Amino acid sequence: MRRKLVIGNWKMNGSRAANSVLLSGIVAGFKSGKADAAVCVPAPYLAQCEAELAETPVAWGGQDVSAYAAGAYTGEVAASMLLDFGSKFAIVGHSERRAYHGENNELVAQKALAAVNAGLVPVVCVGETLQQREAGKTAVTVCLQLQAVLDVLDTAALEKIVLAYEPVWAIGTGKTATPAMAQEVHALLRKQVAERNAAAAAGMQILYGGSMKPENAKDLLAQPDIDGGLIGGAALKAEDFLGIIEAA
Ligand code: PGA
Repeated sequence: MRRKLVIGNWKMNGSRAANSVLLSGIVAGFKSGKADAAVCVPAPYLAQCEAELAETPVAWGGQDVSAYAAGAYTGEVAASMLLDFGSKFAIVGHSERRAYHGENNELVAQKALAAVNAGLVPVVCVGETLQQREAGKTAVTVCLQLQAVLDVLDTAALEKIVLAYEPVWAIGTGKTATPAMAQEVHALLRKQVAERNAAAAAGMQILYGGSMKPENAKDLLAQPDIDGGLIGGAALKAEDFLGIIEAA
């Protein structure tokens, strides 16, 4: 039985003061039940997460990770550095990184590999644009994105990753994939992983992301292949984030 996992993606939001209010609100209201919770924060706030979350059941992580272990890569953050501050997760291949920072499938795969090799859990994001969906290219798009990652990870490493299906047109737009639409893609992704490693596929947490809110979370999370959420906007208010966790 896969546990549900709800991860907040704060994106480029926050301040020491605001984070403190948000984190203490999450910790105060979080009940360890069927779902695990984590927040992925801007790198400068990892130390704050470590200080405020270390004794709690809420995990934390980064929103990106370098494909390289160390060296002359100005601006990059290595997996070992995320781990140094107690991180469990690193989001890789978020559509905003793909769109605004030119990350292609191969680079995303290298980042996932660097994370796994260091002992971090990469949350590998895939998803189609509206144009791709309307052109009937959803399946081919997400399968190519996933395949690049499957090509670089060995069979055992597939047990150490989390996937997130985030249709680009649903991110921050208030438009959500219907539960049936999301389920269809999640099942497809799981089948593709199963071709490499059936046990890993059966155990893999595949999260949905894209305007998930307390109001729509229950129906999405009731789908057999939706194992949690990657939450943007609604992760910035403790009440909303907790509402989604409760729906799981
Ligand atoms: P959203 O973002 O919940 O604000 O749509 C999700 C994400 O980008 O991870």
